[in-house]
Amino acid sequence: MKKMNQAEKERAAKVGKKLNVKAYIKAEIEAIRAQVGDKKVLLAMSGGVDSSVCAVLLHKAIGKNLTCVFVDHGCMRLNEAKEVKKVFKGKFGINLIQIDAEKRFLDKAKGITDPELKRKCIGGEFIKVFADVARDLKQKLGDIEFLGQGTIYPDIIESGVGGNKAVKAHHNVGGLPKDIIFKGLVEPVKYLYKDEVRKVGKALGIPDEMVMRQPFPGPGLAVRCIGELTKEKLDILRQADFIFRDEMKKAGLDKKAQQFFAINTNVKSVGVKNGARTFGYVIAIRAISTSQFVKAGVVPLPFAFVTKVAEKIATKVKGANRVVWDITPKPPATIEWE
Ligand code: XMP
Repeated sequence: MKKMNQAEKERAAKVGKKLNVKAYIKAEIEAIRAQVGDKKVLLAMSGGVDSSVCAVLLHKAIGKNLTCVFVDHGCMRLNEAKEVKKVFKGKFGINLIQIDAEKRFLDKAKGITDPELKRKCIGGEFIKVFADVARDLKQKLGDIEFLGQGTIYPDIIESGVGGNKAVKAHHNVGGLPKDIIFKGLVEPVKYLYKDEVRKVGKALGIPDEMVMRQPFPGPGLAVRCIGELTKEKLDILRQADFIFRDEMKKAGLDKKAQQFFAINTNVKSVGVKNGARTFGYVIAIRAISTSQFVKAGVVPLPFAFVTKVAEKIATKVKGANRVVWDITPKPPATIEWE
């Protein structure tokens, strides 16, 4: 029998052979209370499934001692901030602060083109923004000793923690820099796969539209915007991505894909709009089907649908004039482009 590495041993201890959702929730709530006591937790909320489930789990465990912070790092999808506010502040009554840090992130990422450096830059800045927010909140709320994170098991595996080989650096793994004020991390979904996170979310009473939402990585559109991150390129991507996702939903194809999104390839090509020559970005679209996100297949979108989306994006989005379809499974490609 294969020997378990450290990460596998820890998962086995928390989850066992098969996840018992109710028992897991109960144990995690107790574990959070034991770890945190009456101290306060600041949770990094990205709007994705993992941090959303994490937020509700923490809210159940410690109520008003949880403050969620949604940092708009300028790499969010269209309308993301508004939607997060509506669900978490509106429906669940969770303490939620939204920070517009677009300029800070884009200034920091200026000139960086290497995918891993981009990830690390955004991850590092994220931790710093949270530390800044915590310092600001300290006066108002008293000490905030813990940082919550929606890290899940594949993040740990793919970051090379626990004896696994690193695929790429996930920004939410690796702990806090020594000079900042959090005393520890709270990661209540750390040993769960994505489908298990969803099951926990459902059992916690999070509506289907949130729980079944496609995952969105912490670095956001940064891993889908190739080359240097600029507001112009990200705005073009945001609009193209919105059109694609909206058309997928309208056609009922969203049910067939676990993740579907657009990418700004950073390649420019010649086109023609309203009888005039254009030189705009090539947008790629990608729709994948997967259960664990470790392997993924390509969703066979109807060809007429793909060409309709391509035409719509190239016509409506200023700065984009061509669309290509990514038909590569994982492996050998990853789901995200960077
Ligand atoms: P890849 O691209 O590695 O993606 O095939 C596997 C799954 O992980 C998500 N992903 C991330 N999630 N931080 C996250 O929180 C990240 O840095 C990150 N990178 C990838 C990706 O969207 C997919 O669901």
